[in-house]
Amino acid sequence: MTKKNSLSITDNRTGKSYELPIENGSIRALDLRQIKENSEDFGLMAYDPGFANTASVKSKVSLVDGEKGILMYRGYPIEQLAEQSSFLEVAYLLVCGELPAKDEFDQWSHEITTHTFLHENVKKLMEGFRYDAHPMGIFVSTVAALSTFYPDSKNLDDAECRKHQIQRLIAKTPTIAAFAYRHRIGLPYMYPDNDLSYAGNLLNMMYRTSEAKYEPDPVLEKALDVLFILHGDHGQNCSTSSMRFVGSSEVDPYCAMAAAAAALYGPLHGGANEAVLRMLREIGDKKNVPAYIKRVLNKEIRLMGFGHRVYKNYDPRATFIKKVADQVFEVTGRNPLIDVALELERIALQDEYFVSHKLFPNVDFYSGIIYQAMGFPVEIFPVLFAIGRTPGWLAQWQEGHLDPEQRIARPRQLYMGYGKRDYVPIGKR
Ligand code: SDX
Repeated sequence: MTKKNSLSITDNRTGKSYELPIENGSIRALDLRQIKENSEDFGLMAYDPGFANTASVKSKVSLVDGEKGILMYRGYPIEQLAEQSSFLEVAYLLVCGELPAKDEFDQWSHEITTHTFLHENVKKLMEGFRYDAHPMGIFVSTVAALSTFYPDSKNLDDAECRKHQIQRLIAKTPTIAAFAYRHRIGLPYMYPDNDLSYAGNLLNMMYRTSEAKYEPDPVLEKALDVLFILHGDHGQNCSTSSMRFVGSSEVDPYCAMAAAAAALYGPLHGGANEAVLRMLREIGDKKNVPAYIKRVLNKEIRLMGFGHRVYKNYDPRATFIKKVADQVFEVTGRNPLIDVALELERIALQDEYFVSHKLFPNVDFYSGIIYQAMGFPVEIFPVLFAIGRTPGWLAQWQEGHLDPEQRIARPRQLYMGYGKRDYVPIGKR
């Protein structure tokens, strides 16, 4: 008998049977609605808190294989891209779907390099923040504010218009990051130097002081470019899903990306790299690691930088980042916190709790140590993550907008509240 691509379901409440087609390893949740107890019944839904087993989109941007520990952007393994490509080329790949030919890359690179400046009013906006405002709070607000400078960005069905906003956002995120950093340390803003590379220009805008021309250290410049590549995209993570969710209302991409950046800010997501550094500083020395692990096992705290919803094996980005760390430390000197991190990893990976829960180091575990060794303040770490993830967010947003199956995101709920009851005037309560 030929195997049918379908699911046969019997509703034991009614004895009725149903045949649900299986396509792409899934059933359509709407097909469950035909399963009713009686004609008034709304029909079955699937309940999935945190969307642990629900696909809300079809995507071709990146593949995250959690069991095998594989990450690919448009089919290219992340290791090959980190070794051989550049962040701007990977950004083109993520957004446009193919690696660019030379003339295509030159045009793309020129467009982005010549859009790095911010409207002068953005500086006034930033002046309104406290001196010690968290750079991620400034980043989220400023990205949203850019929607007011580009009202034409609402023409979402115009491909050229979408491309223009995508290039503007990729170009301006380093400038926003640098201005937020300079605001925090009370130094004048340094404007983009379009002679420099994408990563070199960020270092220039953050660290240039009185020299006429900033010359980034080539090893740090390359390491930062690789870190941006490794953060480029990652399936339907919390921030990308937020980008798609908010974007599904057809708001402009600046507001949608502000929502994505806000989601990334959380310590369970992109804010983890900052939390890892604070954790390592709190541990202080590798002799204190066993006591810290004990607190994790007692469920008092979580081990930041460990665990992942999808990877049940080593995060391939963490493996690569560890290699980048050695190159950075040759320039910056070894970061003593790396010894604490290595001891934490060694003990955790032997411990039954971590092994049984498949808790391996994720991308945030080592990236924070490198950022700190490169001289970045810990508060800027999630902003660096956001810069790297920007092309991924925008590629996914555009894919969602162009998907004929996509509509405004509006999940259902299981109502567990009161039934109808009458209002009671306050005097009678
Ligand atoms: C990123 O989704 C992406 O792709 C994200 C990302 C991307 O590129 O976009 O990869 C980037 O956000 C990486 C993750 C960074 N966050 C952290 O490092 C924070 C620490 N990690 C966790 O909070 C947690 O592991 C998550 C948030 C990453 C995943 O959470 P899940 O899948 O919802 O897992 P869970 O919270 O339901 O935990 C399952 C079990 C629980 O134990 P039990 O109650 O079942 O006994 O594992 C335990 C948790 O207590 N657990 C941890 C743990 N992570 C999970 N216990 C201790 N330390 C941890 N880090």
